[in-house]
Amino acid sequence: MREYLTFDDVAIAPGLATVEPSEVELTTKASKNVELYLPFLSSPMDTVTEWRMAASLARLGALGVIHRNMSAESQALQVKMVKSAPQSPWLEVLKAKEDEPLDSLLFRMEEAGIGAAIVFSSPPTIVVSSAADQEFWFHKASAFLSLLREHKPLPLLDEEGRLRVGAAISPFDERRAKLLDGAGADVLVLDVAHAHNVNVLSSVARIAKEVRADVVVGNLGSRSGVLDAVARVENIAGLRMGIGSGSICSTAEVTGAFAPTLTAVMEARKALEELGVHGKIPIIADGGMRGAGDVAKALIAGASAAMLGRVFAGAEEAPGAKIRVGSRVYKQYRGMASRGAMERRFAEDRYARPSKSIEEGVEGLVPYRGSVVAILAELVSGLKAALGYAGAHSIESAWRGELVRVTAAAKEEQRPHDILL
Ligand code: IMP
Repeated sequence: MREYLTFDDVAIAPGLATVEPSEVELTTKASKNVELYLPFLSSPMDTVTEWRMAASLARLGALGVIHRNMSAESQALQVKMVKSAPQSPWLEVLKAKEDEPLDSLLFRMEEAGIGAAIVFSSPPTIVVSSAADQEFWFHKASAFLSLLREHKPLPLLDEEGRLRVGAAISPFDERRAKLLDGAGADVLVLDVAHAHNVNVLSSVARIAKEVRADVVVGNLGSRSGVLDAVARVENIAGLRMGIGSGSICSTAEVTGAFAPTLTAVMEARKALEELGVHGKIPIIADGGMRGAGDVAKALIAGASAAMLGRVFAGAEEAPGAKIRVGSRVYKQYRGMASRGAMERRFAEDRYARPSKSIEEGVEGLVPYRGSVVAILAELVSGLKAALGYAGAHSIESAWRGELVRVTAAAKEEQRPHDILL
């Protein structure tokens, strides 16, 4: 029998670093024609990505994928909202020169509806408007400053200078795919739990011929799945790899089927290397990554980018209400095959068609984490440090890094141990 490996089964072997971690370059690709400045995509889930999340991510160099738990028209509108949103990273927080009078700065903040500004004095100072949610804005501006130390934020723009955005599609809804394409989506991400299916692949192959956007196919979990997808979908622009690893996912528990993200990425790499196109058809690792360390392992395994659900679900910019429980604040997070999400789908999209009637996801809460800027800042510094250990100076060079298996004893030793915490 073959064996599956997941993130905790492996460690990053230290390698010779030629640059300092802060100089590690994170530019990569989400799909054949869509570059990313940061290797992150947000999951197409109704508690993760609508236009606000997608616009903020694109302003900072990452990509949001709008979920499809709504009518095709509403989803197309969401895409248009990102396309018409202002592009500058300096709309997350304002930028001010040291000599700008405070009154003028406060006026600009009020006019723009932006609660914090960074004044480039030395050292830089954060100004928060008295009208704003001060704690949120101060935290966001501090995170923006720490992101700036690691990475110069550049917005992801299309040929017309608009923010880039992805959107989830169903293989059997050509009308939706065309509407999203017409609305300007840059990447259409196939959103099915098991894309290694002849009907799914032939349907998505048809869609891919009809649209201008890049089409990413997934989810897949095996080498043969990737070989079949590449053979059947002529202009396939990317692969979304991983089945059953998601934090809200109960697929493996309910059905016994599983292809953990790390193994799925290694399988995809094997297939693409056999075809001589690894690096040309980008691999997106999807599901189960808890933070920068897991993302780094996925990249070293051969992925070009990581798709994150839970990590982004706690952001202010994620759809969904904040919930206070005692003194703690949470946001709702649920699987797209959970009961609540499926009920919404059939209530809002009369074209939705069930392929299965069982629930394969759960609903829960994740801690509220403030702005997505703070989440990105943490991911970027963690990822640069991780790739630094691997001896990588870029994502392509990370593919030459080494992952090693860890024993049970090594797993114990990896954590802080033998002290009173
Ligand atoms: P996370 O980052 O570990 O939270 O995983 C997010 C990923 O889980 C998504 O990008 C999807 O691939 C997957 N997913 C989303 N909803 C469901 C579900 O209901 N069941 C199984 N997998 C899901």
